[in-house]
Amino acid sequence: MNAPATKQVLLQRLEGLRQMPTIPAVLVPLLHHLQQPVAQFDVQEVTDLLSQDKSLAAQCLQMANSPLFGRWQRVETLRGAVVSLGFHHLSDIAMSCGVLNLLPTDKKKLDPVVFWEHSLGCALVCRHLARQLKLSDPGNAYLAGLLHDLGIIVNLWVLPQEFRAAFEIAKAEGIPLHEGEERSLGFTHCDSGRILAEHWDLAPNLIEVVSFHHSPEKASRNPELVALVHVADLLCRMGGLNYGYIEQQQVNLFDDAGFYILAKSSPSLKHFDWARLTFELDSYMDEVHRVVQTIYRT
Ligand SMILES: [Fe+2]
Ligand SMILES: [Fe+2]
Repeated sequence: MNAPATKQVLLQRLEGLRQMPTIPAVLVPLLHHLQQPVAQFDVQEVTDLLSQDKSLAAQCLQMANSPLFGRWQRVETLRGAVVSLGFHHLSDIAMSCGVLNLLPTDKKKLDPVVFWEHSLGCALVCRHLARQLKLSDPGNAYLAGLLHDLGIIVNLWVLPQEFRAAFEIAKAEGIPLHEGEERSLGFTHCDSGRILAEHWDLAPNLIEVVSFHHSPEKASRNPELVALVHVADLLCRMGGLNYGYIEQQQVNLFDDAGFYILAKSSPSLKHFDWARLTFELDSYMDEVHRVVQTIYRT
């Protein structure tokens, strides 16, 4: 499987974009709105768009009523969700529901639920860390965490058998998934994710996160955001919101390249309350499982 020819064939298959997931139509204007200053948001337009897709609207309401989004009193309409949660939160929710629907056609090959649970957990940890560290652009943090492993869904979709073999190697040896992919496929979900992120015309910051979240030292455009996602990903993998298996490798966060980059731009990281984050991560976990399961049933 390691032959360069295999890598080339697989990458060509990805580049050909055959069977590649298309971006859910409703998310295109949302992504566009997210690139604009808040004053230019047309809340009604976006709410109308979301309302047109009944199943997506129902999923958004399910998520809007989850404590993960700080909502304790029931909201019944999307408009109500915008009013009580704010437009940014509703965008986060709509993006989450939209991408969670990107299911490979053959679910029997490998269950994508576990990857979305990891992605949603990572998005929440990114949001939490960005707020605590008072990062310059916390608005992007949730989305970056949510989409960082887009390449896994691409691999599940386009190369199910080959990806399954890579996954089994990683699981059997307890190594990080990207190392199993590198060994078995000759490339990782960072490479396949980059192809889809570019195809979807995602913002350059997000493309960089998708491409370099396992090698944050390579980021040049927004190393802080890439490092944030890298650290959140590590915390999730160590904390139980992993890819469905335990990694054997001991990670010392304080020696990690991403942690170093983040500490350089956010001195407050040194005084960060890690015990509290671990506690919050535990409390997120059950709710993340519940929300993802609910969305898949809607
Ligand atoms: Fe990853
Ligand atoms: Fe990840």
